[in-house]
Amino acid sequence: MNYDEIIRNVLNENRYKHTLGVVKVATELADRFGADKEKATIAAYLHDYAKPLNYNEALKVIEKYDIILDEETLENPELLHAPVGMAIAKYELGINDEEILEAIRYHTTGKENMSLLTKIIYLADLIEPSREFDGVEKIRKIAYKDLDLALKISFDNTIIYLIKKNMIIHSDTIKSRNYIIRNLTRGKK
Ligand SMILES: [Fe+2]
Ligand SMILES: [Fe+2]
Repeated sequence: MNYDEIIRNVLNENRYKHTLGVVKVATELADRFGADKEKATIAAYLHDYAKPLNYNEALKVIEKYDIILDEETLENPELLHAPVGMAIAKYELGINDEEILEAIRYHTTGKENMSLLTKIIYLADLIEPSREFDGVEKIRKIAYKDLDLALKISFDNTIIYLIKKNMIIHSDTIKSRNYIIRNLTRGKK
């Protein structure tokens, strides 16, 4: 399957450019940390497949494929494109690889005990070259050395941002950060 062509037809120019950046960083990180480069490429290409759908279109996909979602995801359109993208990848593009599906499914929130591939896609999405936010350079540098530390800093940023904006924090993000912190402290003992 030509994922580049599929995505170029679905996404607008900016999102396509973002996706190419995610593919680039995800394959570099896969190389660096010994993950499957082909899986990283496919997951990176498809991670934002459902981003152009509006809220009702996204809900229709969820209903069609009987995807059960928590309230926190359902009430946040920003989060919803991740499980919807997973459903489309699985049921419409025939992706059966659980690791790829998990990486797409959790690229917005993270999850407890993320696989290596899920960590890579989560971070690549955040630090690809066209991303600009305070502190991105620091996370970029750390990501190539220590994925867990880069994730911990990213979750800290996200949670602080959500608190400042008075927004709901998805429980998967909290669980994911707790899990990473336990791992980081264990590593130091
Ligand atoms: Fe996304
Ligand atoms: Fe993205």
